[in-house]
Amino acid sequence: MAAEIRPTGREVFFPAKELIVSKTDLKGRITYANRTFCHIAGYSEEELLGQPHSIIRHPDMPRAVFKLVWDTIASGREIFGYVKNMARSGDHYWVFAHVTPSFDAQGNIVAYHSNRRTPDPSVVKNAIAPLYAEVLRIEQSHRNGKDGLAAGYKALVDFVASKKVSYDELMFALQSAA
Ligand SMILES: Cc1cc2nc3c(=O)[nH]c(=O)nc-3n(C[C@H](O)[C@H](O)[C@H](O)COP(=O)(O)O)c2cc1C
Repeated sequence: MAAEIRPTGREVFFPAKELIVSKTDLKGRITYANRTFCHIAGYSEEELLGQPHSIIRHPDMPRAVFKLVWDTIASGREIFGYVKNMARSGDHYWVFAHVTPSFDAQGNIVAYHSNRRTPDPSVVKNAIAPLYAEVLRIEQSHRNGKDGLAAGYKALVDFVASKKVSYDELMFALQSAA
């Protein structure tokens, strides 16, 4: 479905007091979406259930960011980060996401969960959008997809390392400094 949608370049927003919530199975297929998610993305919950979460993937998002998310949650840790998502209309909305694994009583990962709030627009504009554009440019400068992902991932990790803090600390520092 997402492949047929063209980005409009128009940004849409959701209220700061609301959270966009979804849950997925281990493969990233949506098992729950709250009202705010449905409203901003332009789908009913019924349409979202069972769909891959990439249904709202925006083409401006570097693959390296999703690799970092998946590597982190699949190893049982939580992650914070900024994501540009695409609604059914092609409009986009930025989120500050907290993605977590859910465990059963034996400690096995059984599902994933994401809560997103509205990010500070100046952080997105001044720090995140330029960083993601650069990582995407690096990814796309390689003809081979695997090499592109590796180079983009290295650029992302190097950027975090240059700030001398962990990835989550950096994401939080950006969000709360603004
Ligand atoms: C709990 C959870 C929430 C996710 N939320 C989003 C999201 O809001 N937007 C998005 O593009 N991908 C999200 N993803 C990542 C997608 O599963 C997928 O990796 C990403 O869209 C890249 O898709 P692609 O590899 O098909 O290009 C989420 C994954 C999980 C497990």
